[in-house]
Amino acid sequence: MHIDIITVVPGLLDGPFSHSILKRAEDKGLAKIRIHNLRDYASGKQKQVDDYAFGGGAGMVMMIEPIAKCLEALKSERDYDEVIYMTPDGETFNQQMANELSLKGNLIILCGHYKGVDERVRQKFITREISIGDFVLSGGELAAAVVADAIIRLIPGVLNDETSALTDSFQDGLLAPPVYTRPAEYEGMKVPEVLLSGHQANIETWRFDASVRRTKERRPDLLEGKDF
Ligand code: ADE
Repeated sequence: MHIDIITVVPGLLDGPFSHSILKRAEDKGLAKIRIHNLRDYASGKQKQVDDYAFGGGAGMVMMIEPIAKCLEALKSERDYDEVIYMTPDGETFNQQMANELSLKGNLIILCGHYKGVDERVRQKFITREISIGDFVLSGGELAAAVVADAIIRLIPGVLNDETSALTDSFQDGLLAPPVYTRPAEYEGMKVPEVLLSGHQANIETWRFDASVRRTKERRPDLLEGKDF
């Protein structure tokens, strides 16, 4: 899967893809993440990518031409299944969307900045608009990194047994159960006996019950319409 991220602040995306699971996905050739500086597609000496809003008001608006040029260049190299725009007024991201997007071919993610993009960009090029929550970041870059991370770790072959996504919170509609490692006792706090028993069936039952309990306590909304 190719994920091409378009931004006016490429420096914000320098770090996240060079470490841990995301780096491994790149190294294994399962995900290719490329960061594109929108300014490289701007014309004129100033390399202008934004301008004042028609009608006035505070804040700059990202211009359509550099974005169109960048998208054209990317689309001439390969096909893309989605052109995603990161914006606080998009559809709220969740695990189901991550699952769905991880099964796609190639993705473009456009990061909004300033007051956002000219509305015509959204009308003409964008196939999906995603928000990572009801709060406003200074740009879409960190949101794009969040979405790309959640997608990439689900691409078949990226995770191994130890990091399997199958036991993640939300993957089965429940929060994940508590986990423990050595020591078996710390300052009088003991690991639940069953986890030390070696009895796999009992361990699975305990984990399922603990998942349901945790979900009931913390996210009862996830259980609506379910019979636990
Ligand atoms: N850009 C600014 N805030 C955002 C958010 N909450 N989600 C996605 N993109 C954003």
